[in-house]
Amino acid sequence: MINTLSEELIAQFHIFLENKFGFSYKYENINELLDRLTPAVKAFGFTDSKTCIEWLLENPIQQEQIEILARCLTIGETYFFRDINSFKVLEEVIFPSIINKRSNDRNIRVWCGACCTGEEPYSVAILLHQLIPNLKDWKISLLGTDINTLFLQKTKQARYKEWSFRSEIPELKKRYFTKNSDGQYLLNPEIKNMVDFFYLNLVDDKYPSLTNGTNGIDVILCNNVFIYFSEQQIANVTKKLAQALIEGGYLIVASIESSFIQHPDLRPCRIGNTIVFKKESSSNIKTIPQTTSSTALTINHTPAFKAIASSEIKLASPSTSNLDILKLWYLEGHYKMVIEFIEKLLKNENETEFLKNHSQEILLLIQSLANQVKLSQALNWCDKAIEINKIDPAPCYLKALILQELHDEQGSIHFFQRTLYLNPNFALAEFSLAVLLSRKGVNPEAKHHFKNTLKILESHHPSDILWEADAMSAEKLTKMTKNLYTIWYE
Ligand SMILES: C[S@@+](CC[C@H](N)C(=O)[O-])C[C@H]1O[C@@H](n2cnc3c(N)ncnc32)[C@H](O)[C@@H]1O
Repeated sequence: MINTLSEELIAQFHIFLENKFGFSYKYENINELLDRLTPAVKAFGFTDSKTCIEWLLENPIQQEQIEILARCLTIGETYFFRDINSFKVLEEVIFPSIINKRSNDRNIRVWCGACCTGEEPYSVAILLHQLIPNLKDWKISLLGTDINTLFLQKTKQARYKEWSFRSEIPELKKRYFTKNSDGQYLLNPEIKNMVDFFYLNLVDDKYPSLTNGTNGIDVILCNNVFIYFSEQQIANVTKKLAQALIEGGYLIVASIESSFIQHPDLRPCRIGNTIVFKKESSSNIKTIPQTTSSTALTINHTPAFKAIASSEIKLASPSTSNLDILKLWYLEGHYKMVIEFIEKLLKNENETEFLKNHSQEILLLIQSLANQVKLSQALNWCDKAIEINKIDPAPCYLKALILQELHDEQGSIHFFQRTLYLNPNFALAEFSLAVLLSRKGVNPEAKHHFKNTLKILESHHPSDILWEADAMSAEKLTKMTKNLYTIWYE
């Protein structure tokens, strides 16, 4: 496509792409970008890219348009055990150490943040299958997310061509795949079933979140995506990934991307030839207020606290309530601070009264504990909250999510159902139940819950914010529901 765009329009479009997707198109060749855009121009009903770009810049963008653009602009280059050095570090150092430490709890949580067509998370699944002999006794949570819905659809088929095995792994190929008559390789179900896939835009979507399982992660792989991102968006995404990691967890990026990672809580560690980033939080509270009234807090001004400069400004305001402070801390990923703060408040108040009068604080406490993988404590608070307010669906919903993390599927289904009994319009409970039942293979019931989710969402305006869904918009949850329905059933 020939470029007829003014420099100003190109500059504005670059900013748009950076804000929505993270991409830094310091394109030498704008024609290359316009070529990639061609299918989207057609899909949006235009005949020329200039009018299409002007339209995109002038109108609020819908989730569907984001997805169409993502399909055109993302690059789906991946293969099994791609960065062999990282996989070696996982195999020889990181996973053995986690497995050793968790011999009692027996749980591991891994997230591939730009999983493309699935080769990377499935490689992790194969690795864990090899490393843990009694895998059935473990709770493995392996999540793959990506912005490109076509890639995500391919993950479900788990059917790969020879080209996906470029890193020479003949033994693994033989052991874990079955060759089809068409020459393609089908991944064995025992590995396939270990991974869950979701749509997630690293730049725009909310995480860490109990809702999509991006909380309390031991290892995040985010390989070969930062190379496409601007510096500012790398910093934005790194901050959120650091929040999603458990203390002592690891972020792994492709070797060429390691120089991009700079965050006070992520310490670069060299293991062999590979650099990985270990979460070691530097933040600490010096003093916690003694009363429940709005009080200025004394905070250590370590580098990590530069990140919460916004909360310091708010703290200075006399009208700031404890709940506002806690929400800010929660949003900034300072879960330990939230927990310590509420525990301190609880020391000065009757627990029952506190549960009655501070249900929002208790929900933040539960979510913070869950994000720190203190699941039995989180469950304990859910039970107390449910006991005090039997008609509140929110703690039931959180309990269902936590039971799901504990792989107690029956318990989880029970509490999703109870949530829906208390509030039949709780879209996210319908959605989560649909996903859980799909995973269990209970298809007709799962489809029914997917449809119910969409029905509930129809009663919302697309821009309505669903507070129980980490402030996701109704439009976004609608798209996510449709995407997952397609991945599972079409
Ligand atoms: C080159 S592939 C890397 C795949 C895999 N991680 C690997 O290293 O083999 C880049 C992936 O990043 C995804 N991606 C790009 N921008 C993204 C965003 N904003 N959020 C989530 N995924 C994104 C693309 O869809 C693509 O699947």
